[in-house]
Amino acid sequence: MKDQTIADDVLAGTKQFVQGPEEFARMPAEYHDLVVRQMMVHTEGELSGADDYLDLFYPMTNSAYEKKVCCERGAEEMDHYRKGAAILSALGHDTAFMIDTPLQERNLYATEAVKNVETWVERGFFSFLGEAAVFEVLKEMTESSYKPIADMCPSVIEEERVHVAHGKRIIRDLCRTEKGLAEAQHALLRWWPVALDTFGTSNSKRSAAYVKWRLRKFSNEEARRRFIELTAPKLQSLGLEVPGHESNRKFL
Ligand SMILES: [Fe+2]
Ligand SMILES: [Fe+2]
Repeated sequence: MKDQTIADDVLAGTKQFVQGPEEFARMPAEYHDLVVRQMMVHTEGELSGADDYLDLFYPMTNSAYEKKVCCERGAEEMDHYRKGAAILSALGHDTAFMIDTPLQERNLYATEAVKNVETWVERGFFSFLGEAAVFEVLKEMTESSYKPIADMCPSVIEEERVHVAHGKRIIRDLCRTEKGLAEAQHALLRWWPVALDTFGTSNSKRSAAYVKWRLRKFSNEEARRRFIELTAPKLQSLGLEVPGHESNRKFL
C-alpha cells in the first residue's frame, strides 16, 4: 500500500532512508521508476565493463602485467554487476537477460564508449575519463535515499578508484614522449565528449526528479560542470589540451 507519510518524509529529508524492499513498496510510482531505471542502467554498465576488460582490452596488449590487470578488473566489474543485480532482484526485477544480450546490442547504458575501444590510448582514457565519470556519479549515490544503493556504493567505489588511477598511469606514461602525447591528444578529441556525455542531457526532467528524491545529489549539468573542474587540470598537467566542452557531444 502506498504511504504518503513515508514519501513526504523522504522528500523533506526527515527520513534519511527507504530501508529496503518493504518500505520501497510503500513509495510512489515515480520513486519506483527512478530507482529501477537508475539501477538497470548502472548494472548493465557494470556488466559491459567486465566485457570491455576481458573481450576488448585483454587481447589488445601483449604485456603479461596488463593482461593480469584486465582479468582482475573483469572479475571486479562482474562483482559490481552482481551487486546491482541483487538489489534489482529484491525488487522483483531479473537482470539475467543482460548477460544473454551481446555487448553491442545492450541499450540501457547510453554511451557508445563501452562498445568501441580500439587502441591502448583509448583503453587508458576509458579508465582515466570514462570510469572517472562513473566514479563521480557513484559518489553521489553513496548518499542515496534508497539504503541498499547507499550500502552498495562504498565497496564499488574503492575498486573503481584503482581502475581510474591505472588509466591515468597509462595516459601519463604515454604523454612522456612527443609521439605518445600527440596520440593521446588525438584520442582525447573522442574521449572528452564521451566522458562529458556520461552525465546525460542538461535539461533532463528525470535528472531533476533524481535530485528531488535524493537518488542523486547533483543535476546532470551540475555534475558535468564539477567533473570538468576536477578533470581539466589533470589533463592539462600532462601537457594535453582540453577540447571545447561542447564539441562532438551527443547529449547537450
Ligand atoms: Fe564497476
Ligand atoms: Fe571499473
